[in-house]
This record gives sequence, C-alpha cells and structure tokens, in this order.
Amino acid sequence: MKILIVNGSPRGTRGATFGVVEYFMKGAKEAGASVDVLHLTQYKINHCTGCFSCWTNTPGKCIHKDDVENLFPRLDVDLLVLATPVYVDGMTGLMKNFLDRLIPLSSGKVEIVNGHSRHPSRYGKKHGERKLALISVSGFPELDNFDPLVKHVEAVAKNMQSEFVGAILRPNAWIIPHMLERNAPVEDIIEAVVQSGKDIVQHGEFDRNTLNIISREIMPAEKVAELISQGFQ
Ligand SMILES: Cc1cc2nc3c(=O)[nH]c(=O)nc-3n(C[C@H](O)[C@H](O)[C@H](O)COP(=O)(O)O)c2cc1C
Repeated sequence: MKILIVNGSPRGTRGATFGVVEYFMKGAKEAGASVDVLHLTQYKINHCTGCFSCWTNTPGKCIHKDDVENLFPRLDVDLLVLATPVYVDGMTGLMKNFLDRLIPLSSGKVEIVNGHSRHPSRYGKKHGERKLALISVSGFPELDNFDPLVKHVEAVAKNMQSEFVGAILRPNAWIIPHMLERNAPVEDIIEAVVQSGKDIVQHGEFDRNTLNIISREIMPAEKVAELISQGFQ
C-alpha cells in the first residue's frame, strides 16, 4: 500500500500533529506500507484566486508558478492522509489552501455520481481507488472539538470521490510530551496510534476500540483548564 501523509501544521516537524503522525507512520511501515510525508510548510503554496484558468484557458494548469504542480505526482497513492491540528474549529489555512489548489486535477465538466454533481478527475488514480483518512490534534480536551473538521473532511472525501476510512483524533495533544517527561501512563495511547497504522494497512480500516484509546481522556477538563491558566498568570 502506498500512503501519502499531508502535514498541514504550520509547526511542521515540531508540531503535535507530526508527533502523532510519526507513530502512525511507524505502524504503517512495520505493516509493509511505503509512506511519504509532505510537510506543507516546506513548500511555496499560493492561494487559489478563483480565476478558473486551470479549467478554461490552460486546462490542468494553474496560473501560479509555485511548488504545487510538482507535488501532484505524489498524490497518486492508495491512501491519502490529511493531518492537521484543529484551528478555529477546522483545518489550518495551510491545509485548506493546498486542497483548494488541487482543482486543476479535476476537469470543469460535471457528472452525476451517486446522485450528486461532481467534477471528473483529470489524471492519476481513478475515482474510488484512493482512500482518505484524517489525523488531527486539538488543544482543548473535549472530543467534540473535532466535529466540524471531521464533517468537512468526510465531505472532501466525497468531493474527491474517495472512500473516507476514518479519523485518528487526539484531543489535548500538547499534554502528551509533559506526561512522558513525568513518566505518567500514556504509552497505551502511543501504542494505539502505532496499531492504527498497522490496522489500516493490514485490514483497510481502523479498529473502533483502538481509535477510542487514542482519543481517551488524559486529564479532566477542569484540571487542564487550571494547568493552562496557571501558565498565563
Ligand atoms: C490559530 C489557532 C487556532 C486554534 N484553534 C483551536 C480550536 O478551535 N480548538 C482547539 O481545541 N484547539 C485549537 N488550537 C490549538 C491547536 O489545535 C493545538 O495547539 C495543536 O496541538 C497544534 O498542533 P501543532 O503543534 O501540530 O501545530 C488552535 C491553535 C491555533 C494556533
């Protein structure tokens, strides 16, 4: 299985998002997958201007001469994993800019697929051949912080005519390094992330119990609030 993980955290390899991604990669590689990681911070990605030149004047080609077009071949994978922290209840601007810039990969034509209007793919994987997953972390401890993002990524998968295979969600992720420093018990979470990487390669799906361990409470919300607020006194 070929996997591409797109890391949309502005903190790149230093971020909590990549902290989770690294363990997922470990599991996926151990299960035999080839895994590529794209840190969006390392590339020049202008935002889409909405000119539609990529559908009209220069089909398949964007007006921007930046790094995006060179990244297209890397998207030709079996599983695309969007990895982003929750920013203002959604994905980061970096990730959204990147997704907007994938428009040249579709044609401007419209076809009806499963009762919904869609733009057919121009290159690469045929629709339905590529699966899509989400890895996300949040600052707040409540799991419902991910609800709008998960809904959005499910819709993105439908838009790309890919099967959404699920989400690895780690609320309150910044606390994990602190817990590890203090030898507090969070190894089960780390092992579950590694296991989720293995599961998706070996079984094509995530295990619900494993995902629940990844998302489990580490500290009651009141305690987290106290801890954060202390730091700002
Ligand atoms: C601009 C901004 C907006 C954020 N919005 C939210 C939010 O809506 N909900 C939340 O739980 N955390 C929010 N966070 C916290 C991040 O999700 C959290 O710090 C995360 O661990 C960052 O991951 P990273 O280290 O990979 O960048 C926000 C952080 C920033 C910088």
